[in-house]
Amino acid sequence: MDDVQAFYERYPYPGPLDSLDDYRRLWADPQRRRADHHLFQPALPYREDPSILIAGCGTSQAAKHAVRWPAARVTGIDFSATSVRCTEELKHRHRLDNLQLHQLPVERVGELGMQFDQIVCTGVLHHLVDPVAGLQALRSVLKPDGVMHLMVYAPYGRTGIYLLQDFCRRIGVPATEAGISDLMIAMKSLPPGHPLEHLLRQAPDFKHAAAVADALLNPQDRAYSVPQLFEFLAQGGLRFGRWLNQAPYSPRCGVMAKLPQAGRIARLAAPDQFAAIELFRGTMVTHSVVACRDDHPHGALPFDLAAHSDTAWRDWVPIRLPDTICVQERLPPGATAVLINRTHTYRDLVMPIDAAEKRLFDRVDGVRTLGEIAQDVPPRMAHDFFDRLSCWDQVVFDKSRPSPGLVRRTH
Ligand SMILES: C[S@@+](CC[C@H](N)C(=O)[O-])C[C@H]1O[C@@H](n2cnc3c(N)ncnc32)[C@H](O)[C@@H]1O
Repeated sequence: MDDVQAFYERYPYPGPLDSLDDYRRLWADPQRRRADHHLFQPALPYREDPSILIAGCGTSQAAKHAVRWPAARVTGIDFSATSVRCTEELKHRHRLDNLQLHQLPVERVGELGMQFDQIVCTGVLHHLVDPVAGLQALRSVLKPDGVMHLMVYAPYGRTGIYLLQDFCRRIGVPATEAGISDLMIAMKSLPPGHPLEHLLRQAPDFKHAAAVADALLNPQDRAYSVPQLFEFLAQGGLRFGRWLNQAPYSPRCGVMAKLPQAGRIARLAAPDQFAAIELFRGTMVTHSVVACRDDHPHGALPFDLAAHSDTAWRDWVPIRLPDTICVQERLPPGATAVLINRTHTYRDLVMPIDAAEKRLFDRVDGVRTLGEIAQDVPPRMAHDFFDRLSCWDQVVFDKSRPSPGLVRRTH
């Protein structure tokens, strides 16, 4: 058994859950599921029965996906028997007949003899001895038009974590209950301005022993800067589709658009923009990315509206992302409202909109097409506004024909 496996046998992550009832209630909303589908697959019609692999599923992630998508076939793998056992318990408690579990290393996923529409692998690959081999193994079980959701650590925001990992290694802090609880006491005495401070403030998870052990006592992890991540994807035979949240990486959003250097950044190719923004923001702790195979049948995943200046976009249906809110108090000058995505951690990511834009935004109901929404405004204005909404993580687009099962609202 290698060190990482032994670690996760003892300290499964995240801390085990007793119930998924709240999670089930959250995902009972059909618009949440539709938005999720089109975030990953803008061009494929909505479906509720994909095959999904959760690779390195930990204690609850595979069970959550089985709850989220009751008609899907969900497979969870993890090399930690403890994690698989915790997930089995959730499976039995919630009668998740659509969930299969295997104690299996990511590197040997091919032994399942299966292919998947979607692969989710978050917080795992950066712990592997050979992450590229792990990514290639996952790619080998992804269907040609499938998608992957990957999350890996990012280096600059984790500086404080790497300092404390080194501190623990140098003085020999043991990965035991006592070692972890002493570490939690010590963290309360970190001096102001310590590079870990922003994480302690942002991540409530750090109050839990499982998270502290996972971050500070993990025997093996590495982090990927944006250029390293792009290289990693290419080595794995994958192509970048989009960031799960794109606004933090965009030169058009928040503080980045107001910099004296904004024009300079805007002239760069997209991967260079992302790399520059990661350096400027300086506190990103993870990168969450949607990727597809480099031989995807359509060449690439069609995410951007900006790339479509013809009229095809008028048939697309915008769907609001579920964690967004529209605020009409304490507004900046000239704004009728500001749009906020509550999953953003950067405070500057607040999108002001004017009265004409708000009228368009209010018409987004997940059913009407962009053409129907924008029939009384100049096409260019509608195109650019919805492009901005997508860039700010306010909407995703259904670029397939509307699903026959959806009842069209009369208006
Ligand atoms: C930080 S946890 C993340 C769990 C889950 N993906 C989530 O986001 O909640 C990492 C998980 O990956 C598993 N893991 C690490 N390396 C693995 C490998 N080579 N094969 C299978 N599982 C692995 C660990 O056992 C652990 O359960």
